[in-house]
Amino acid sequence: MSFDSGRPINSHARYESVADKEYQAAPVAQRKGSKKWLVLGAIAAIIIVGAAVGLGVGLTRNKSSSDKSSSGSSGSPGDASSAINAKSSVGRFATGTDPFYLYPDYPSTTNTAVYTSPTFVNSDDANLAWPSDSFQPANPQPTNVRTDRPRIIAPSYKWQALPNLIAHDPYLKGWNDSIFQNATEYFSLPPVVYHMDGSSGILDNSREIKMRIKAFSYCYRMTNDTKWSDRAWTELQNAAGNGTTPFGPDTDKWNSGHFLDTAEMTAAFAYGYDWLHDVWTDDQLASLRSTMITFGLSFGVQAYTNMNFGWWSNDIQGNWNCVCNSGLTMGALAIIGEDTTGTAEQILGLSIPNAQTNCVFAVSSDGTWSETANYWYFGMTGLAEMASTLQTATGSDFGMLAANPNLNKTGEYHMYVTGQTSLFDYGDHGPNKFSTTANSMIYLGDQLNNPAFVLFQRDMHDAPEPNSMFWYDPTVSGAFWDGNPLDMFFDNSTDQWAAMRSSWTDRDALYVAIKAGMLQGHQTHNDLDAGDFVLDALDTRWAGELGSGDYLSTGYFSSDAQDSQRWLYYRKRTEGQNTILVNGQNQNVNAQPTVKHDSSGTAQGSSTVETIPSGSTAFWIADLVSAYNDTSSFSRGMRLINDRKQVLLQDEITSTQALQWRMHTNATVTVNSNGFSLAIGDKNLEMQILNAPSGIQLGTAQPVRLSTDPALPAGQTDQPNPGVTVVTIDMPAGTYNLQVLFNPQWPGMSSSDFQTPPSVALADWTLTSHN
Ligand SMILES: *[C@@H]1O[C@H](CO)[C@@H](O)[C@H](O)[C@H]1NC(C)=O
Ligand SMILES: *[C@@H]1O[C@H](CO)[C@@H](O)[C@H](O)[C@H]1NC(C)=O
Ligand SMILES: *[C@@H]1O[C@H](CO)[C@@H](O)[C@H](O)[C@H]1NC(C)=O
Ligand SMILES: *[C@@H]1O[C@H](CO)[C@@H](O)[C@H](O)[C@H]1NC(C)=O
Ligand SMILES: *[C@@H]1O[C@H](CO)[C@@H](O)[C@H](O)[C@H]1NC(C)=O
Ligand SMILES: *[C@@H]1O[C@H](CO)[C@@H](O)[C@H](O)[C@H]1NC(C)=O
Ligand SMILES: *[C@@H]1O[C@H](CO)[C@@H](O)[C@H](O)[C@H]1NC(C)=O
Ligand SMILES: *[C@@H]1O[C@H](CO)[C@@H](O)[C@H](O)[C@H]1NC(C)=O
Repeated sequence: MSFDSGRPINSHARYESVADKEYQAAPVAQRKGSKKWLVLGAIAAIIIVGAAVGLGVGLTRNKSSSDKSSSGSSGSPGDASSAINAKSSVGRFATGTDPFYLYPDYPSTTNTAVYTSPTFVNSDDANLAWPSDSFQPANPQPTNVRTDRPRIIAPSYKWQALPNLIAHDPYLKGWNDSIFQNATEYFSLPPVVYHMDGSSGILDNSREIKMRIKAFSYCYRMTNDTKWSDRAWTELQNAAGNGTTPFGPDTDKWNSGHFLDTAEMTAAFAYGYDWLHDVWTDDQLASLRSTMITFGLSFGVQAYTNMNFGWWSNDIQGNWNCVCNSGLTMGALAIIGEDTTGTAEQILGLSIPNAQTNCVFAVSSDGTWSETANYWYFGMTGLAEMASTLQTATGSDFGMLAANPNLNKTGEYHMYVTGQTSLFDYGDHGPNKFSTTANSMIYLGDQLNNPAFVLFQRDMHDAPEPNSMFWYDPTVSGAFWDGNPLDMFFDNSTDQWAAMRSSWTDRDALYVAIKAGMLQGHQTHNDLDAGDFVLDALDTRWAGELGSGDYLSTGYFSSDAQDSQRWLYYRKRTEGQNTILVNGQNQNVNAQPTVKHDSSGTAQGSSTVETIPSGSTAFWIADLVSAYNDTSSFSRGMRLINDRKQVLLQDEITSTQALQWRMHTNATVTVNSNGFSLAIGDKNLEMQILNAPSGIQLGTAQPVRLSTDPALPAGQTDQPNPGVTVVTIDMPAGTYNLQVLFNPQWPGMSSSDFQTPPSVALADWTLTSHN
């Protein structure tokens, strides 16, 4: 173990470099039973000549059957039908109904036949597996698209196979039902009303329309009932400004000044144009095309050539680049061949190389999304839709999935940043999601041969949507948790963070996540939050985040420099985080924390009832001195105590200024002689101060700016944080070793079952130092 060491849990050799592999040059993805292929395109092969289309030659790796199966399935018909029987007997897991706690209720019984290592079963059985795609161009080109429709994500051969797969797969069956249910709800609503809300333009409109068009188009194709295509037409007419109510200014209906709105609307029209191509008359097709070109694609061409207007295309590695390139690519591929203006072709020559050098690198070397845990959803949805559209329309992803070999870790990022009650939702949370989901997990898991991603996502509340129906590989089998380590450390210096828990499948379980990382380089979506943490236990979040401020506030996105107006707002300031405040000041934006950590490497077994072995623990320590001006030393360490039933947070700090330890909670907080008692509903958590240093003062505070803070920009206010209390520990200038022990009051655990760990300096922490 050393500072900045790699992950300790490497026995699985989970991260193979794509570059280490041998590839056979072959043009396209091919999926047939035991012969699964993977498209890995060659980014270097993209050549752009003027506005002409870049040509990428995909490379395909022939995956041997052993690559796709770790359970030794032979692929015989008997195996396939037993796999189907096992699936049916387990079925889907129920999803929680509280909007904050929508995670699955994993059954507490075990079926060892099914809860095995994640795998894809080898099968040619049409009841279990997709047939292969006959569209296999020898030399894929962005302009050479499949001749049948649809082209986008859901080719016709998959629609033909789908009813039979639905009949044999409980997930596809449940999702199909949900999509119909949702579509039925949207059906009776009036078309989306144009609403410019300023902070995110008409992005909510665009994403809601996209969600509806996908659902209506899906239902039409599954029934041939024109009530669905008629309703889709009404929605498209409305968004083209040809409905009964006005939709946006005449020359710029899709709000190109906030290009996400334009891109998502173009994607919405791409689905409608392509999935319903068979129903539209030539006139309708021409109208849709002209609307897509006028309000979407031609603004896209300008964006790539005018860097002020298209700032997101200029070296931006974040969700904007993914969403914008994706929407434009989908729009272009929907109409190419029927577009006589050349715009679609021009877009493809620009969008594909742009996404390959920018979008995919929002995933850092450890898999962390460089913005925030919530922004991962937007970026990854864009990336998945773009890569999938390229594959289905042209036969190659043109290197999208291989350009950044760390893409295979971003599913793990999402799994570990998901706590027991909700995300470790640091920084900005972003706008409403609508058409945005975590279903890129289903796509990536399938494409990168990482079945755990598929298994994790398929039980989530946002799994049912049309794309999942086509991305899901029903041969997936096993349980994501089987063999999955309970702890993971993410060490890239931009986003150092840790996740540690006591179970993957018990919503009551303990989860802590804590971060350091740099305070710049996150597309200005971060907070000044080195040392910040969340804590879940007993199906309750005890230490939590405040989320986004008002995106319209003066200077909110001005910059991430020290004097940025962004850092005037409470939710973004250090005082708004669960960390130490020194002299009431913000952290230093140039902070360069270092971390060290270790874990017993405990992985969950196949049972959903996890038994923690004795001595199982993990810890993470960050040197945060560079985040403060007035401290000569500061390290913060967090570790699991008592076989993952308790948490110790230890701060060792020397400061010439007054200090305040802060934690934001929804709990009712009572100060007592040992520390604090927290209550949320009928759940309780005790916070005990160990070896309490003299001079410290325990208290609570309102989650509002300090009286000593610099003034907000004229006319601006902070958002209220109703129900939130700040737990505070004040310390005068000096040297401290502050140890806060968190004891969730687990049912059946008596006070003598809680441990009081010894006092050990952070420098001496080891896996056994607190036994
Ligand atoms: C992705 O990770 C999984 C799990 O480690 C591994 O089996 C798979 O081969 C990886 N995929 C690629 C394309 O490297
Ligand atoms: C999809 O769901 C709808 C609504 O529940 C149902 O009527 C239809 O039969 C389902 N499709 C298939 C192929 O099962
Ligand atoms: C819808 O029509 C298509 C084309 O005629 C046909 O292949 C498909 O089976 C029909 N689907 C349904 C559910 O009737
Ligand atoms: C909307 O109306 C305009 C003006 O008549 C026309 O150019 C455009 O093609 C129409 N769009 C759709 C989707 O009908
Ligand atoms: C962090 O990830 C970024 C993006 O992939 C990469 O450029 C950088 O080198 C990584 N830093 C470290 C310290 O690994
Ligand atoms: C279906 O509707 C439910 C309830 O509004 C929502 O939570 C879910 O995300 C929707 N699914 C899709 C695919 O839109
Ligand atoms: C308070 O609860 C809400 C959900 O009801 C959650 O979103 C938020 O993060 C919690 N806040 C804190 C500070 O824990
Ligand atoms: C900390 O010091 C740096 C460098 O002198 C300065 O730019 C910054 O404003 C200081 N931060 C605070 C909160 O005083």
